[in-house]
Amino acid sequence: MTNHHTIAVTAPTGHVGSRVAQLLVQAGTRPVLLVRDPDRLDPGLRAAAEVRTVDLADTESVRSSTKGVDAAFWLDGVGESAPDPIAASTAFGAAAAAAVEANEIGRNVFLSSGGAELRHGAGNIDGLAAIEMALDATGADVTHLRCGYFFTNLLFDLDGLRDGRISGQRRPDERIPWVDPRDIGEVAAARLLSSSWSGRHVQGVQGPQDLSFAEVAAILSEALGRPVRYVEVSDDDVREQMRAAGRPEAVIEGIVGMTAGTRDREPAVPREYVTTTPTPLSAWAFTTLRPLLAA
Ligand SMILES: NC(=O)c1ccc[n+]([C@@H]2O[C@H](COP(=O)([O-])OP(=O)(O)OC[C@H]3O[C@@H](n4cnc5c(N)ncnc54)[C@H](OP(=O)(O)O)[C@@H]3O)[C@@H](O)[C@H]2O)c1
Repeated sequence: MTNHHTIAVTAPTGHVGSRVAQLLVQAGTRPVLLVRDPDRLDPGLRAAAEVRTVDLADTESVRSSTKGVDAAFWLDGVGESAPDPIAASTAFGAAAAAAVEANEIGRNVFLSSGGAELRHGAGNIDGLAAIEMALDATGADVTHLRCGYFFTNLLFDLDGLRDGRISGQRRPDERIPWVDPRDIGEVAAARLLSSSWSGRHVQGVQGPQDLSFAEVAAILSEALGRPVRYVEVSDDDVREQMRAAGRPEAVIEGIVGMTAGTRDREPAVPREYVTTTPTPLSAWAFTTLRPLLAA
């Protein structure tokens, strides 16, 4: 007997979605890839999948592109780049939930974040909380992956790294979970392929250990072979810098709030065996960051 499960993947060109897509192919399925530009896909992946175009900011497009889908990996690709991030994420959550209901998508995995448990007061993470709640209200099976801080956030300031500096709003000694997005993709793919769970679940994805920015600077210095120091900047200094760069107020508060609203909190999802993923920051920095800085 064959059991056909069609699994859709949003953002298959991104850090997390690209890993989800590859693992689904390696598992012997033919995933449905939801992309805005098929040319950005790896040719090998494009050949092994069904490619559909989507605009995640368009409710009708999200619904029509997920017809016939049994399971979906949902990633909010629109919040971070919108002039009002929380409003854009909330609209995406409504669109995803409408698609789940209209197309009876029975199994769903959503890329969320630590801090979403607060629901309000954590900047852009509030938008992910809104998506969690919209998906919950459908009654379909859903796992929310509450992820730690992505290693790939370091890619946003390569110039700073070239100058030997990383900066952030946290105290140098405050530890948070740091995670390789590729490892998140592995957890997501495993959940999508498994039929051993149902109902609503929250699962942390937290990398191998919690790290402070001081520890991150030391790890990077070693892995990159050049000194890196951590510079703490105040919430207000970040606001001033972004205002000077002409960023809209909702964007500024969305970014500042992610740290300001989660400072010195115990994570609601404690670190456990099931939340821990393998790749150390040192390995990622050596293989991914070091060549970029050498270029
Ligand atoms: N950074 C963190 O520390 C952190 C922590 C927890 C959760 N998260 C969440 O993780 C997500 C980012 O994951 P990532 O790093 O894997 O993403 P990413 O590499 O930044 O890629 C973003 C993806 O979204 C797609 N996309 C953007 N706008 C789209 C649109 N209108 N229609 C269709 N696709 C669109 C992009 O497609 P193109 O290739 O066409 O551009 C790309 O595949 C965000 O939702 C964020 O909230 C981040």
